[in-house]
Amino acid sequence: MVSLSLAWDRFVSVMTEPKKHGNKAPLWQDLLMLGVSVLASGAVMSFVLKQIDPQRDAKLAAKKRKQALQKRLGMQIEMNEYEQLLAADVVNPDCIDVTLYDIGGLDPIIDSLYNKIISPMQQPQLFLSSPLLKPSKGILLYGPPGTGKTMLAKAIAKESGANFINLRVSSLHSKWFGDSTKLVTAAFTLAWKLQPSIIFVDEVDALLGKRNSMDQDIVTSVKTEFMQLWDGMVTDSDANVIVLAATNRPYDLDEAVLRRLPLSFEVGMPSAAQRESILRVILSNEAAARGSACIEPALLENTPEETGPAAMRPLERIAEATEGFSGSDLMELCKQAACRPLHEFISSMSEGKKDAPEAPRPLTVHDLEASIATSRPSRFNAQKYYMEAGRGGEPPDGPEPHARHRAGGAASGQRRGRHTAPLADEVPGADAAPGTGKWQRDTQRGHLSGPSEHTSAWEL
Ligand SMILES: Nc1ncnc2c1ncn2[C@@H]1O[C@H](COP(=O)(O)OP(=O)(O)O)[C@@H](O)[C@H]1O
Ligand SMILES: [Mg+2]
Repeated sequence: MVSLSLAWDRFVSVMTEPKKHGNKAPLWQDLLMLGVSVLASGAVMSFVLKQIDPQRDAKLAAKKRKQALQKRLGMQIEMNEYEQLLAADVVNPDCIDVTLYDIGGLDPIIDSLYNKIISPMQQPQLFLSSPLLKPSKGILLYGPPGTGKTMLAKAIAKESGANFINLRVSSLHSKWFGDSTKLVTAAFTLAWKLQPSIIFVDEVDALLGKRNSMDQDIVTSVKTEFMQLWDGMVTDSDANVIVLAATNRPYDLDEAVLRRLPLSFEVGMPSAAQRESILRVILSNEAAARGSACIEPALLENTPEETGPAAMRPLERIAEATEGFSGSDLMELCKQAACRPLHEFISSMSEGKKDAPEAPRPLTVHDLEASIATSRPSRFNAQKYYMEAGRGGEPPDGPEPHARHRAGGAASGQRRGRHTAPLADEVPGADAAPGTGKWQRDTQRGHLSGPSEHTSAWEL
């Protein structure tokens, strides 16, 4: 700045009093000096302004995220600053590590989702030719915590090849981000640019719960913006974008939201047969990851240990003993059990016994049984869910799930007068055509087959 003002003073003096300066310095030198000074001062000014910009770090981080996203997605897209902020929450389906085959006990729901969501996303041209075939653009997964809803959502994105925008309510309302409504708009415009895509709203009740007079203005405007953009997406036949929502509190959802979610699936607490399926999926994944030697053959094959009428499959026994366990509890149980052979091995090594084994022994059914005693099932969370849903804390192994599904949707809402728009009466498995889609568990992934694999809880 100082050099610029000196150069300017000299230039003015040369121009106004040429005689005073004589021929000492030619005019072009002064002009050059002035030009250089102007450029240098401009650069310094811009550098200083950038340094003091309060948004500088955020913009730099957003730029990095944009570059990372473009690399991940393998495509160049233009994004505004709000879309860039959301870029961190976009997952390329190829990077999702959960598949439909990793989910146990939910085959009828998966069949239905395959026909109604995954196929239309994979082959939109077949479904857009008629209004009757038009796929639904809103799906709700609801049920107690730990039953696999989030897992299912990720697997749907993976299977359909859709980009997955994980819309975190905490990000939207974070004071760091400030402008929540603009972020909601960005979620939809980004989804449009990345289609086929899924906007996943986990814990949707936190974003689109019942409106009440205590709501802050920002909460109300976010809801309104979300609904309007959603409607726009529904009426736009070119948009291959769906909103997939999940919640543990369906009874807290706004009626207008329920109307926009024509497909809904209750992912309830698993029955004994479903628990057996979940255990088998978890253990066969473990064997695939660590080698079949890490699990004793009878457990891995799930063959009855004894003969005679009282014979039970080992996992059937564990399933019977784990009433009130969710899928997530069963995962924890298996983790605990899997650590037992390892702990034994470590202690035998540290004791320096001569006959110490060279490797940990395989996991046995007794490890699972011993771990049940020290596990804490989340049945209380589930009871809370069933109580709130107006079902008096119905036990997990209650009536057969078709009826349960209906009760959980329409009936509970009517009984409690909580929402007049019932949850959709989607009957898992009723319209599914198992074996007709690409989704066929046993043949495709070679999971262990056995009686309960095909007779899921809904068919029992
Ligand atoms: N049906 C299931 N099959 C296999 N694993 C399951 C199942 N349900 C839950 N899990 C395990 O529990 C974890 C938590 O499940 P999650 O999908 O987050 O439950 P939710 O979203 O319903 O609360 C999963 O990552 C998975 O390891
Ligand atoms: Mg979840």
